[in-house]
Amino acid sequence: MRALYATVGSAVLRVALYGGCSKIFLMIESLKKYVEQITELPTVPVVAREILGIVDDKLASVDRLERIIRNDPAICAKVLSVANSVFFRIKEPVRTLDGAIVRIGFNNVKNIAVGVSLLSVFDDGKRAEDFDYQRIFNHSVTVGFVARLLYGKIQQNITEEIVVNGMLHDLGFLVLNRYFPGDYGRVLKKVDKGGDLLEAEKAVLGFNHTDIGAWLADKWNLPRSISDTVLRHHSPSLSKRKSRVMAVIHLADYITTRNILGPVRNDPGYPLDRSSLDMLGMSENALENMEAEIGECSFPGAPL
Ligand SMILES: [Fe+2]
Ligand SMILES: [Fe+2]
Repeated sequence: MRALYATVGSAVLRVALYGGCSKIFLMIESLKKYVEQITELPTVPVVAREILGIVDDKLASVDRLERIIRNDPAICAKVLSVANSVFFRIKEPVRTLDGAIVRIGFNNVKNIAVGVSLLSVFDDGKRAEDFDYQRIFNHSVTVGFVARLLYGKIQQNITEEIVVNGMLHDLGFLVLNRYFPGDYGRVLKKVDKGGDLLEAEKAVLGFNHTDIGAWLADKWNLPRSISDTVLRHHSPSLSKRKSRVMAVIHLADYITTRNILGPVRNDPGYPLDRSSLDMLGMSENALENMEAEIGECSFPGAPL
């Protein structure tokens, strides 16, 4: 991907060229100031890169997937932990990767491995005061699975990308915690005092976790549907590309935060973007029913 930059007023216009198509977005000045301070950005882990490169050749792929994951014991352990979590309601725990593939399927193992390996890049023990990495990790994985559940109910089928989109939607929190723990600690203090998270981020940083998360997704060259979701998961109505996946992630994040596990200790006060309901042809009543149904699924606060 090539990118050109030009300053227009207070914003930096970034034109990213993807082959023949172009994507244009404004990078707000405040975000630019922050990302310019990031000198050593972690690269996409080998596990995620290799799995994203697996082509759809079922038999060869199962072997390859196993080999790739087994080469990284820490990721392998996390994949098994998610496979054994409440989401799959497995009675007897699986202890091997081939067991996990048999029980929950190739695509689930593949998506979980990509999600956990990208999230784990930021699990380095460096913390903003009040930042809870495990909480963000569990929230992210839960959103991935609630989204899968919702999508299945709405569409009567499952799209493979939904789990990994859900798992990565809050990448921005991890970037902020890793590189700017002091400023992010100030954001969390405001939320502790009853502030709205998105407003607190704007007040302290001048941008949201969605903006810096999308910047990272773009740097990592993640698929377009993931970077779009990272950028617009709190405001799908602002997205140029109206996507049902994004609308589902918005609702899954909203429901998970209110009923199961939010990304921070206190209520972040996330707004509901009603256009997500229109995109899915859903009524508010239907949303309330789903919320009640999912709330009763008793996902534990710490599912992993
Ligand atoms: Fe978010
Ligand atoms: Fe979230």
